[in-house]
Amino acid sequence: MIGRPRVHHAVTGSTNERAKELAATGAPHGTLVTADEQSAGRGRQGRTWVAPRRSAVLMSLVLREYDALLPLRAAVAVAEAVGSEEIKWPNDVWIGGRKVAGILVEGRPAEGWAVLGIGLNVEPVEFPPDLHAVALDDGRSLEDVLAGLLGRLDDRLKAEDVLAAWRARDALEGRAVGWVGGAGGVAAGIDESGALLVDTADGRVALQAGEVHLRLE
Ligand code: BTN
Repeated sequence: MIGRPRVHHAVTGSTNERAKELAATGAPHGTLVTADEQSAGRGRQGRTWVAPRRSAVLMSLVLREYDALLPLRAAVAVAEAVGSEEIKWPNDVWIGGRKVAGILVEGRPAEGWAVLGIGLNVEPVEFPPDLHAVALDDGRSLEDVLAGLLGRLDDRLKAEDVLAAWRARDALEGRAVGWVGGAGGVAAGIDESGALLVDTADGRVALQAGEVHLRLE
């Protein structure tokens, strides 16, 4: 079972950064880093991730066995853990059209490891309106939510049918999307590699996560 050994910080810069240090010095598959608070939490595409102290599950896992679908697998696990039916490609988990969790995968494939970082809003707090964020707020403690999440991750990191589970929660299918440098189009699901398919005026394109910053039109 993933989640052992576990290192917990009252406050640290970024659990992903701590987990990467541990991975680089040989920490085993499944090593978990958690924190009550981060002073330099990181999001995808150079963004920051901010959460008031003990309001969110802040966790990073060292993984030595993983595949290219890891970001999508993690999104499915988080969605199942919080009862969400909405994933915004590639791996934002929504409840009621608002983001409840974000996922940041950072890897050193050449060294055989990846770090899976997850921030999951649990306690209700005042979110800046432009974040379009929401908290789980279902009465469960941070530790209970973490335990449920680790259980779903343990399953989904190995599961065969992860693309079907992801597609069943695709929040973008049929919606107009745009991105810098592209004409935009209508989201048409994901292919077998996890790339987002978009129907544009010039035909169907496949977008790789990390290459584009998607916006809803
Ligand atoms: C995103 O939606 O942009 C991804 C956010 C990922 C945030 C988590 S919080 C725990 C881990 N440590 C970090 O610095 N980032 C991830």
